[in-house]
Amino acid sequence: MTPQRAATRTRPRPWRGVIEEYRDWLPVDASTPVVTLAEGGTPLVHSEALSQTTGCEVYLKFEGANPTGSFKDRGMTLAISKAIEAGARVVVCASTGNTSASAAAYAAKAGIVCAVLVPAGKVAAGKMAQTLVHGARLLEVDGNFDAALEVARVLAERYPAVLVNSVNPYRLQGQKTAAFEICDALGRAPDYHLTPVGNAGNIASHWMGYAEYAAAGAIERSPVLFGFQAAGAAPIVEGHPVANPSTIATAIRIGNPASWELAEKAAAESGGQILSVTDRDILAAYRRVAREGLFAELASSASVAGLLRISSEGRLETHATVVCVLTGHGLKEPDWAIAGAGTPPRLPVDADAVAAALGL
Ligand code: F0G
Repeated sequence: MTPQRAATRTRPRPWRGVIEEYRDWLPVDASTPVVTLAEGGTPLVHSEALSQTTGCEVYLKFEGANPTGSFKDRGMTLAISKAIEAGARVVVCASTGNTSASAAAYAAKAGIVCAVLVPAGKVAAGKMAQTLVHGARLLEVDGNFDAALEVARVLAERYPAVLVNSVNPYRLQGQKTAAFEICDALGRAPDYHLTPVGNAGNIASHWMGYAEYAAAGAIERSPVLFGFQAAGAAPIVEGHPVANPSTIATAIRIGNPASWELAEKAAAESGGQILSVTDRDILAAYRRVAREGLFAELASSASVAGLLRISSEGRLETHATVVCVLTGHGLKEPDWAIAGAGTPPRLPVDADAVAAALGL
């Protein structure tokens, strides 16, 4: 760099995490201790291939780029900071794996105890590894996520432990920053915002974010929100709790979402809807997104499966701007990437043999 260039260069400011970046929009004050891993600031990636298929301008909000590999970190920085502010020494959550990975990491950063209740045998290996490596107290429950959440709620009621599931209002407050970032990156709100739905907190938080920006005049109007449940775990779509939810997208394998009403309200107020997508479509979307260079987990791919569904149904205007949220990182469940990929050829240590195998 020339001395002149060096002198005029404005240094890019490092991202400070969602509490500092959006402090004025969050329930914190100068005395709130900020527990952060510099979450948020995730990429909004334009998808040429999905834009071409749908006739829209499609962007993928890659939440897998958060410190623990999912959007949960946005809410957890606030939930743990507020728990510390209130003097908590123990936090508890039920989880399909991402909440627990995030809670474990932020509790470790804060130096407090984290207890985690997960449905036995139904959590992806990478998420279990994260929860364990951060030193959380992992407990497997003989039941599904809904049962584990019920236990966590009772535990937090009866014992000195703060519940950090998305029924904790600070979680949604933090997660609404995803909507802020999307608007800040586009310079306006998208026309459509598509996201997977499990326990239903995230879609509600995004609506909160858009509504707050709209009320403050930061955007002219809010997007239409569509949420997507997996067909085997689609209580909101079916209109009743599902006793035995079943889907390959284990992160959203939930039969009785805690934020059910909030999610329905978010979709309805925005002019959108909660719909379902099949496991087959989720898997196809997962592979498709991966071929564009983004490794998102299966549950995340429900938003893209949903995009392809509503686009084929003619529900999106040509050239509309659409954001699909990819909620978590595919590395958390590598089995799905490896399965079906076939066995690589085993070759001698010889460039000609490698060239022949590659057809060069
Ligand atoms: N995508 C991923 C990757 C998730 O982990 C979750 C929820 C969702 C989408 C759905 O978000 O629950 O706010 O509707 N995972 C929770 C957990 C349940 O325990 O990690 P939601």
